[in-house]
Amino acid sequence: MTKMVRELGTTGRMVSPLGLGCMGMSWGYAESSRNDAESMAVIRTAVDQGVDFFDTARVYGDGHNERLVGRALKERPDVVIATKGGLVVDDLSTHTMRREATPDSLRRQVDESMSHLGREIIDLYYLHRVDPTVPLEDSWGALADMVSQGKIRWLGLSEVSTVEAARAHAIHPVTAIQSELSLWTRDAQGIASAGHDLRPATAGSASTSGGDVVSWTADHGASFVPFAPLGRGFLTDSIDVGKLDDDDFRKTNPRFQPEAMEHNRFITATVRRIATAHDASPAQVSLAWALGQGPRVLPIPGTRTPRHLMENLGAIDVSLSETDIAELDGLGPAQGSRY
Ligand SMILES: NC(=O)c1ccc[n+]([C@@H]2O[C@H](COP(=O)([O-])OP(=O)(O)OC[C@H]3O[C@@H](n4cnc5c(N)ncnc54)[C@H](OP(=O)(O)O)[C@@H]3O)[C@@H](O)[C@H]2O)c1
Repeated sequence: MTKMVRELGTTGRMVSPLGLGCMGMSWGYAESSRNDAESMAVIRTAVDQGVDFFDTARVYGDGHNERLVGRALKERPDVVIATKGGLVVDDLSTHTMRREATPDSLRRQVDESMSHLGREIIDLYYLHRVDPTVPLEDSWGALADMVSQGKIRWLGLSEVSTVEAARAHAIHPVTAIQSELSLWTRDAQGIASAGHDLRPATAGSASTSGGDVVSWTADHGASFVPFAPLGRGFLTDSIDVGKLDDDDFRKTNPRFQPEAMEHNRFITATVRRIATAHDASPAQVSLAWALGQGPRVLPIPGTRTPRHLMENLGAIDVSLSETDIAELDGLGPAQGSRY
């Protein structure tokens, strides 16, 4: 990876422009075929390549992912690990989660995450989802107290509106906001995806859809961290839905159903055409576009394979032209809600 760094919020801490999303190593994507040894090798290869921004959450495998990331990075206390809390697993086998962000629960969750990670301080801790039964000020205030106690270095939010971000920021600085952002999901920029699910929020879904959160982060000195920047694999133009394992959550995800996939091919057709012109891959063009969304934007593509990791890191060397960017920005909305 070309040596380049970006600031994490306004903390003064510089990190690699592309982080590594570790969720799929434990949760969501074909868990029956997960392989901890291979996943740890991917994490260590990423470190060797200069990646120093790793993303996990307590809920990913109910602690499994945090333990895995903690083990893989045991000898590297210098790299940034971001984790999240405020969602708890009710049933691991069915991925049933619920929002739980009372101060007491967050205190317990933070202690558990520290123990899973094997670290005495958590670098970046996100409120994974706002709990509608708890005032955001109470959840965020409890997390701010844990910063004062030296348990957490910096705080972030995930899937919030600009109004929620401002409410939190008034109490304690928001260092990063992590929400879904990719060529087929522009909600965090205030550009609605077709099929956006406006029903009341469930545990996994967005808490609100509201505002241009990416610009809010730029205006407030925070990083924006695009999750699923490869559209959960769709934008790599290499997903064969028929071959997904039964326990892969995309099997039932609306955007991966045959009709939506057929409709959404116009997106990958454009991405592939631009990629070919740059002698790059669709994954690289998708990540280059995400990197172009701001100087403090830190995409976290996920992968379980060293080959995909290396390919994705190559995105840093892809320079899209103004014409490419205009064409990619102009892609119409995707069919199918994202959860
Ligand atoms: N805050 C939240 O609520 C939230 C929600 C979801 C995710 N996240 C975070 O965001 C991270 C990234 O999201 P994600 O993993 O769901 O989606 P993603 O990064 O958009 O895509 C991951 C998928 O793409 C495949 N892939 C990666 N690179 C590829 C390449 N070069 N060629 C072909 N396929 C490739 C991966 O398979 P292989 O393993 O085979 O490469 C995997 O199936 C997660 O790991 C997690 O840390 C956060």
